[in-house]
Amino acid sequence: MDVRIYQTAAEIGEAAGEVFVQQILDKPDCVLGLATGVTPIPMYTYIGNQCNAGRVSLKKVTTFNLDEYCNLPVTHRESYYAFMHRNLFDHTDILEENVHLLNGNADDFDAECEAYEKAMAAAGGVDLQLLGIGTNGHIGFNEPSDEFSDGPFKVKLTESTITSNKIYFDTEDEMPRYALTMGIGDIMRAKKIVFIATGEGKAKAVYDMIEGPVSPKCPASILQNHKDVIVFLDKGAAKLLK
Ligand code: GLP
Repeated sequence: MDVRIYQTAAEIGEAAGEVFVQQILDKPDCVLGLATGVTPIPMYTYIGNQCNAGRVSLKKVTTFNLDEYCNLPVTHRESYYAFMHRNLFDHTDILEENVHLLNGNADDFDAECEAYEKAMAAAGGVDLQLLGIGTNGHIGFNEPSDEFSDGPFKVKLTESTITSNKIYFDTEDEMPRYALTMGIGDIMRAKKIVFIATGEGKAKAVYDMIEGPVSPKCPASILQNHKDVIVFLDKGAAKLLK
């Protein structure tokens, strides 16, 4: 893993955003894997600004998001569909037909996951995947488990994830307990990965990911086996690294 440490979240936004801009300039019809959360917001702002400045166009880009809550209307501000439009898509020239998110309101979740896997394969696979990390080491919504997953699946969120994410909802009951997520196999099939983490709250998960054993107990640790991962950290997130 190529680990790079920065002073501020804003610097990470620019540096990681520039990897995405270069990817789009090198291959205008590339396939991007995208993530949600507070961490990537500066990066999405940077990409939106570069697009508005005319430096890069997302007109031919295809995107696949990592995950989506189950049974939350896409119109809800905390749906990942709404998040992605608010923080990135609405500030670029991407075509809506090229945007893909798992449908957390599908009647048949298995069929939805199967169709998503097929759509990713038909698009030629993900060229560049963005990842953040949960405080429990999750990537996408691949929670700590006894085995690594492969394709997309429906997951029961852990108490740790519910505690981290419920603060964004008006009431605790509104926070979904299930989500659809790309599997670890999907993430590992991406040709290149950009990983970002900021703040001391992520230090233990980042330590386990980089210096711990490769184990589904810390799903992010599988990234030790990927040949092209750039890890962008601030000092807080890098605090426990040797
Ligand atoms: C969420 C998402 C992840 C994200 C993580 C961290 O639950 N499913 O894809 O990486 O949690 O989010 P944040 O950046 O807000 O800490």
